[in-house]
Amino acid sequence: MFSPTLKTRLSSPLKIGNFEVNSRVLQSPLSGVTDLVFRRLVRRYASESMMYTEMVSATELHHLKQMPKIMEVDSNERPISIQLFDCRPDFLAEAAQKAVAEGADTIDINMGCPVNKITKKGGGSSLLRQPHIAEAIVREVVNAVDVPVTVKTRIGWDDEEITILDFAKRMQDAGAQMITVHARTRAQGYNGNARWEWIARVKEVLSIPVIANGDIFSVEAAVQCLEQTGADGVMCSRGTLGYPYLVGEIDHFLKTGEKLPPPTPIQCLECAKEHLQALWEYKGDRGIRQARKHMTWYAKGFVGAAELRGQLSLIETVQQGIDLIDRAIEQLVNE
Ligand SMILES: Cc1cc2nc3c(=O)[nH]c(=O)nc-3n(C[C@H](O)[C@H](O)[C@H](O)COP(=O)(O)O)c2cc1C
Repeated sequence: MFSPTLKTRLSSPLKIGNFEVNSRVLQSPLSGVTDLVFRRLVRRYASESMMYTEMVSATELHHLKQMPKIMEVDSNERPISIQLFDCRPDFLAEAAQKAVAEGADTIDINMGCPVNKITKKGGGSSLLRQPHIAEAIVREVVNAVDVPVTVKTRIGWDDEEITILDFAKRMQDAGAQMITVHARTRAQGYNGNARWEWIARVKEVLSIPVIANGDIFSVEAAVQCLEQTGADGVMCSRGTLGYPYLVGEIDHFLKTGEKLPPPTPIQCLECAKEHLQALWEYKGDRGIRQARKHMTWYAKGFVGAAELRGQLSLIETVQQGIDLIDRAIEQLVNE
């Protein structure tokens, strides 16, 4: 399924500045999802892959006395990147120093978030329209820390402003050591296909690693994307919701050429239960509220899944969730 050229190209570690990662598959930052609990599950199947925290506001961090939970990393959790967002280079530099103290192996700056609340304040994808500020941010953060600084962005603001080639070059010149390109415009949100052809073009003009992001939902998609774009790695996002196996499946395939058998619905439900329990232990009631969406993402692909999703979306306690999942498992066992 994948060419000898691709195999050779990906057989060496991913070099992010002076930091080496022994995997070409990355778990993307996902707000409300990639907390410590979720990352532990992903890492079980992808021990060498790079993971990202949820994005952290540098302004909020500046005003906080304590380190927020979303920035917390396990002491043995490597490789790990802490993602920051903001438009103020000074706050971002300060936040980056705190992130390094927390254990970040790299600092990633979010220049792709499409959410109005963020773009109105000059952060996320609005930086695509303010490249001089984006450059100043990268320069100042690079000066503030001695770990590699990376950027995650989109191909442009909208179809009239696909500026990624110039923008990516500017980020590299400012000192970014890797760039991840979500191959959609800000106007696309998460709709339409990812336009991987733009990643191939970015790859042609940069010398730093380029990571392809957008629509990596399977091993096949990852291989196709790597073949088509020449990218140095792929980053998985929505494909991991309720499926913490994806990064590991792709990583295993790229390393061995062997496709792992997919987990059974029962294994997915056991994983959901573990996720729920861990979120409860880590975050208490807030964890239960957050767990509802995760639980509905896990419950799919079997008779009765839709009904179970409805019930799981309403759970108030960890025990309710466990009882529902146990009952579903029992039914599957007896089928
Ligand atoms: C629920 C959700 C939360 C996200 N949070 C972040 C985030 O914190 N930082 C970031 O850079 N991108 C974030 N993204 C964007 C993804 O990392 C990724 O770029 C996008 O989903 C495209 O990949 P996909 O088509 O494989 O999903 C988020 C996306 C989703 C769906």
